[in-house]
Amino acid sequence: MKILVVGSGAREHTIIKALARDEEHHEILAAPGNAGIAGDAEIVGLDPTNPKVVTEFALASDIDLVIIGPEAPLVAGVADRLRRENIPVFGPNRDAAALEGSKAFAKEIMSAASVPTGKAWSVSTKEELITALESVGSPYVVKADGLAAGKGVLVTEDREAAIDHADFYLQHGDVLVEEFLSGPEVSLFFLSDGTHVVPLEPAQDYKRAFEQDLGPNTGGMGAYSPLPWLPDGFVQEVQSCIAQPTIDEMASRGTPFVGLLYCGLILTDEGVKVIEFNARFGDPETQVVLARLTSPLAPLLLAAATGSLDTQPAPIFSDDCAITVVLASEGYPENPITGREIFGLDKLEGSHQVTLAHAGTAWDQNHLLATGGRVLSVIATGATFDAARKSAYEALDAIELEGSHFRRDIALDIS
Ligand code: AMP
Ligand code: GLY
Repeated sequence: MKILVVGSGAREHTIIKALARDEEHHEILAAPGNAGIAGDAEIVGLDPTNPKVVTEFALASDIDLVIIGPEAPLVAGVADRLRRENIPVFGPNRDAAALEGSKAFAKEIMSAASVPTGKAWSVSTKEELITALESVGSPYVVKADGLAAGKGVLVTEDREAAIDHADFYLQHGDVLVEEFLSGPEVSLFFLSDGTHVVPLEPAQDYKRAFEQDLGPNTGGMGAYSPLPWLPDGFVQEVQSCIAQPTIDEMASRGTPFVGLLYCGLILTDEGVKVIEFNARFGDPETQVVLARLTSPLAPLLLAAATGSLDTQPAPIFSDDCAITVVLASEGYPENPITGREIFGLDKLEGSHQVTLAHAGTAWDQNHLLATGGRVLSVIATGATFDAARKSAYEALDAIELEGSHFRRDIALDIS
């Protein structure tokens, strides 16, 4: 197959590496990619959020399947345009990507489909905000309605901080005030062809910047899979009570969801509830989920893109423990310092336990530079989490990037 992967992060690098493990050989192109992806795919320098440009390229290059990694091209309508030209695309149309693009829309769908989630109030003025905060009480959960690159959510006991955060986002659109939910969080991904859903394996993400869940929310600082502490039947329950009803509701509205439904879940005392939906693979959870995938990836994504997921055998996952740790630039997430050189990656070549997925990297002559907040994902597998952690942290200790930081507590004490 000739496959175009749209995006430039560690998630896309991981997807590309998984495609390359398929028995069938694929010709893989990436737009716009990064320095690491350039080692595993042909780089195409085009604007990934421009529907016309991506579609014209896919047509001219006889692409068999387009896989869209990030949310921005989905919300920009790249999948819509590809689909109009009958190019198989893994990723929802703009209307369906609103499950991620608008938290208020996601709540409306969940309410219509009787999907369990926290109570929420959509507010558009400061007066409505104050009323909502008073009725919900502390701790306050305040969310920007639209995409905010992981920065739009504030959970706080400080009423003034909640008001300030909401005030800022009210200048751009609506704000959601949500009931505070407490419990462990789980990310569970479902492939969907618009009608059927197929679960992948659960993973847990570490959203806060620093150890012990301190510091600001980030895009994700690490992840692990499997989650040995989950109750039996968890995946089946989420499929029947959350994923399938959501896909059915989208289909019944004439906006079928084709691609990856990311269910961000919380296990409360009252049962599992949805915190958020995303319309794409999660980053960094994809790194650990695909590290455990032992069956081919491309046929599954193509079947989802072409409405035939029910004809595919279920994906197979190993029992390995997989962890990923994100190496971030100094100042991430607020003000990452970029442009510094990365050293030491050559020491990791040939390792069987550790792989790297590049996020924000670029070559400058023969110097590898950090160009983003999240720079690299170090991925390790082992028979136990302790073994996987040992490999991952040895690798991280061999990598040098001035001022960089990572969390040392990923998958710590998991059994
Ligand atoms: P979101 O972008 O909606 O996933 O929110 C980012 C993070 O904020 C989540 O992973 C949770 O840790 C936290 N969060 C979001 N909504 C809630 C909620 N209703 N109750 C408690 N924590 C929340
Ligand atoms: N790791 C969280 C996300 O991909 O949104």
